Amino acid sequence: MNDRFLRACRREPVDRTPLWIMRQAGRYLPEYRKLRSRVGFLDLCRTPDLAAEVTLQPLRRFPLDAAILFSDILLPLDAFGIRMTFSPGPKIAEPIRSRSQVDALHAQPAAQVVPFVADAVRLLRRELAGQVPLIGFCGAPFTLAAYLVQGEGKEGFGAVKRMLFAEPATLEALLEKLAVAMVDYLRLQVHAGVQAVQIFDSWAGILDDADYRRFALPYVSQIVDGVKDLSVPIIYFVNGAPHLIEAAAGSGANVLGVCWRTPLDEVARRVGPEMALQGNLDPHVLFAEPATIRARAADVLRCMSGRPGHIMNLGHGILPETPIASVEALIDAVHHFAETEASCAT
Ligand code: CP3
Repeated sequence: MNDRFLRACRREPVDRTPLWIMRQAGRYLPEYRKLRSRVGFLDLCRTPDLAAEVTLQPLRRFPLDAAILFSDILLPLDAFGIRMTFSPGPKIAEPIRSRSQVDALHAQPAAQVVPFVADAVRLLRRELAGQVPLIGFCGAPFTLAAYLVQGEGKEGFGAVKRMLFAEPATLEALLEKLAVAMVDYLRLQVHAGVQAVQIFDSWAGILDDADYRRFALPYVSQIVDGVKDLSVPIIYFVNGAPHLIEAAAGSGANVLGVCWRTPLDEVARRVGPEMALQGNLDPHVLFAEPATIRARAADVLRCMSGRPGHIMNLGHGILPETPIASVEALIDAVHHFAETEASCAT
């Protein structure tokens, strides 16, 4: 098997830096858009052979070093009976705003609510046949709460911050329930066959350090503690949070994924040698000429050269309008980085 991704997660030596791309399955791929014109997003996620097909689409095109299960961070909230739609962003039918709503949430086991996720994972492991590892994922409790309380994606997520200051105990009760449910959900994925998991904290960056350490980080650590006996690498991706890097490094995860705002050599200095790092090319770089893409990708790789434990990725999800040729230029840059550097040195 191509195990450079798993080796890099464990900070073991690799022949070259592994690469996968956040949101690698999705709207920038014509084959995804074609399938989506016939099938709704939630139906794609809930139908194992279609979810598996979409997961494999980027791998048929590109020699990436890992697959990521096609699903969404909000799907396991079905466990609480939360009703939602996507168009394309999520919309929660009844946002959670009160203590009584939080108290009324009782999670059903993930195996009963999202059995299709486990089925898709089993199918994928068979179809991947050891070609590359399969990554599973969940949302971090604070990020899930941001959507649940707001009811939709909204810059600044004012509703969850309002709850944080007005009714902190209500938010803590919600976060606790989400953390317990995410442990169950990730365990389901690992038992079905995922070989690494990523916890997405897309909105933690709206908190200051003290609030992050109270309302976000402990619940991420609770998830890490709840799955670490399963011995798969755990990646914690924290977006838009240059001010939280030191705190985020304390989650207990093996890998810290960061956005594009902080150079990785600086991140490495701030977190110390114990953590592998993932990232962090600005997704907008993929709108540049191929030569610029290669140069910018090489800058990221150079930040980490000589330090074991780097997984190349974007600093956030690939954008829907990204040209296919840009992804090819990025892959080319990663595959040929060692040669490029050697020729620069002579
Ligand atoms: O390829 C992969 O990375 C796996 C699939 C995946 C999706 N969502 C598919 C998707 C993953 C890992 C996610 C995670 C996710 N979902 C996050 C965390 C990562 C991040 O971007 O910060 C968040 C915040 C969500 C919530 C969500 N789902 C939003 C905000 C949106 C709409 C806008 C957008 O960015 O696409 C979705 C819908 C969604 N999730 C789509 C896809 C392919 C588009 C749906 C469509 O086809 O219409």
